This record gives sequence, structure tokens and C-alpha cells, in this order.
Amino acid sequence: MNLLLINGPNLNLLGKREPSIYGLETLETIEEALTKKAISHGVTLQSFQSNSEGQIVDRIQQSIANVDAILINAGAYTHTSVAIRDALLGAQIPYVELHLSNTYAREGFRQKSLLADSAIGIICGFGGMSYELALEGALAFLNKNKNKN
Ligand code: DQA
Repeated sequence: MNLLLINGPNLNLLGKREPSIYGLETLETIEEALTKKAISHGVTLQSFQSNSEGQIVDRIQQSIANVDAILINAGAYTHTSVAIRDALLGAQIPYVELHLSNTYAREGFRQKSLLADSAIGIICGFGGMSYELALEGALAFLNKNKNKN
């Protein structure tokens, strides 16, 4: 099975960016740990980060037919991007929405997600661990569906 991790805008600054909210772990550290976790489960994980909405849409489109599930922290685009929502639904790839912070305990504009209603599930508020929990959730979903067929 192939998983794709997508990180949106400003997540390349993890470790330096508002550490009281997002922690001190860098994106590189998170990606490395998640890749190891994926390998330990016998699956592959590709990682992609972009600050650009169009590049994220392109990456989702390129995943059609070769990615089984997407783990996505779309950053601020979570709250605004019809284009990323449309790409995810158009690609018909199951996805987990994730966030480091608990977006529902923050400003009102972060409490709305354009991705949540069509996600397998949502993980938020566990810092770097949100990524690991999202991976576990995606694998549980894929394994359950595999056994059904
Ligand atoms: C975030 C939450 C978003 O509201 C914010 O714009 C981010 C990070 C998180 O991981 O907590 O960039 O997605």
C-alpha cells in the first residue's frame, strides 16, 4: 500500500513557527519518523510540502491510481480552499485530515474545515503525534476495506 503525506503552507517552518502552538519538532523530523512507522507497517509513504495551493492540487491529481490514502495537513488552506477539497474528492482517494493544534479550540475561522465532511476522519491537537495517529487511522481504514473485498 502507498500513502502520501501532504503538508500545506507554512508547515515547512515547523520548529521555528509559533512553537508554543506548533511545538519544536521540524517537518523533516516528523516526515522521517512517519516514514519509519510506515515501513514498520509494510507500507510506503511519500511526503510532499508546498506553500502553493495549485501545487497541492497538482500533487493530488498525480496520485490518482497510485496512492491508496492521503494524510493531509492543509494548514490555512483547510479553512479556505475549495480547490483542494475538489481535488481530493475528484481523485477519489480516501484521506485523513490532520492538524498539530486543536483547531476547534482556536479562532473562529479555524473552526471551519472545507475538508472534514468527506474525510475518513480528523485528528487534531496532538502536536507531532497527530501525524502518527493519522497514519494509524488510514491503515485501519484500508485494512478494514481490504478484508471486506
Ligand atoms: C494547522 C492549523 C491551521 O489553522 C493553521 O493555519 C496551520 C496549521 C495545524 O496543524 O494546527 O497552518 O493546520
